[in-house]
Amino acid sequence: MQQKIIVLDFGGQYNQLIARRVREAGVYCELLPWNKPFSQWADESLAGVILTGGPNSVYEDASPRLGAEIFTLGVPVLGICYGMQLINYILGGTVESAGVSEYGHTMLHTADTVLFQSVDRTTAVFMNHTDRVKDVPDGFRIDAWTDNCPVAAFSNEAKGIYGVQFHPEVRHTLQGVQMLRNFLFHVCHCTGDYRAEDTIERMLSEIRAQVGSDKVVAGLSGGVDSSVACALANRALAPGQLTCVFVDHGLLRYHEAEQVMATYRDNLGLNVIHIDASERFLKALQGVTEPERKRKIIGELFVRVFEEEAAKTGATCLLQGTIYPDRIESGMGGSATIKSHHNVGGLPKDSIFKKDKIVEPLANLFKDEVRAVGTALGIPHAMVWRQPFPGPGLSVRVIGDITQEKLDILRLCDHIFLEELENAGLMQEIWQSFAVLTGAQTVGCMGDGRTYANCIALRAVTSDDAMTSEAAEIPYAVLKKVTSRIIGEVRGVNRVVYDVTGKPPGTIEWE
Ligand code: XMP
Repeated sequence: MQQKIIVLDFGGQYNQLIARRVREAGVYCELLPWNKPFSQWADESLAGVILTGGPNSVYEDASPRLGAEIFTLGVPVLGICYGMQLINYILGGTVESAGVSEYGHTMLHTADTVLFQSVDRTTAVFMNHTDRVKDVPDGFRIDAWTDNCPVAAFSNEAKGIYGVQFHPEVRHTLQGVQMLRNFLFHVCHCTGDYRAEDTIERMLSEIRAQVGSDKVVAGLSGGVDSSVACALANRALAPGQLTCVFVDHGLLRYHEAEQVMATYRDNLGLNVIHIDASERFLKALQGVTEPERKRKIIGELFVRVFEEEAAKTGATCLLQGTIYPDRIESGMGGSATIKSHHNVGGLPKDSIFKKDKIVEPLANLFKDEVRAVGTALGIPHAMVWRQPFPGPGLSVRVIGDITQEKLDILRLCDHIFLEELENAGLMQEIWQSFAVLTGAQTVGCMGDGRTYANCIALRAVTSDDAMTSEAAEIPYAVLKKVTSRIIGEVRGVNRVVYDVTGKPPGTIEWE
């Protein structure tokens, strides 16, 4: 049986990273809300539990709190930051406010314990807390400390309970991966043989269980997430149960619709229909400038189109390629809403699709895990490694209101940029690259005359999972060539700039 680690989510910023690090270590892991009843996840496959950080203080009335039953599941428990304070609180230790918040790098001194095996006795860690453990519960030992934090890690090895005040999951904790591996392999005795593609069988049976004999319509965008979701459903369901719908909302890139449809027909054997809804989308977006409104309008119209197709086939289920970071950025699980990804939480109240009929087989996976599943399913390399493209398409790359003329300008600029990156052999290192119509009109001089035309921004980023990113260091010669081609070939553009903002503080898309 596949072992699993459950990470209970208390609302901290890095919680998804904990799950990711565990899976990277080859152990299957799920992140669940802290108050999900134990009976729904504590089965014989459970190998350990991790309690995450969170924004609360354990003494606040409204704080999320578990009882001592968490220590009766028969598996080890590791608390991180708030999770450690919670363990201390439950077991009768005391937690105090440190007076000032401790944020950033700190040197940690460690004892030679199981959690700190193969870790230096002094090592850099990342702290982000205000409260800290003061007195530890009976039977606990202090395993690590810093200048400002006398109890930076503790344990009761006999009971299998561990706590760390710092964040082992973030890269700034230099030996954090080793510490997590120590917990997984030397405390929980995990075998470490999980691979993302192993989840395929489980995902297939979950799709079958949720869908039963119903019919399904699936939103297919041409991107890796929805392609993998559709390929899974195609494998899970009987012939005739699944209809994939590729909606052209008029916000696609240069010749994208034709290319995507050809790939689907030639490679995946899916039942795909192509719907040209571009006029409808552009009409609904007329005069709309606010990014969240654009996303909501597009999200709702997508659902309406799927509903119309469902009415034709008698489908009750809607399959979507939602992945984990989409949900986090849309503010699920207590985190702040950065952007409402078009396919998250956007179902209109009166939708014919009921909540329990929304099928999202990839909802717990990161992009690189989706790619691993896609490769294992035999999806062509070019499709698995296609750059992500947002569901709202070019609407979030035309800043301000959207018109056909602006879209045409942007498409050409974007095409030139991508073509030149490809020619320069740079695509491999780039996570996403695109042009943005900034909405700024600038003055220029061309020939002997004055111009007053659009400013285009180029954006290319490197990233692991779109949660953070850096601007790609495109050689100046390439940027110069792209600039001169855009200004020479695209009417209505007289200036090109390159965006070097990271995420954070920026986001990848401009809107
Ligand atoms: P941001 O701009 O938030 O984007 O840094 C992170 C990743 O998500 C993509 N993105 C979206 N994808 N629907 C999607 O399917 C959306 O509404 C959406 N908004 C952003 C973005 O392209 C990047 O890969």
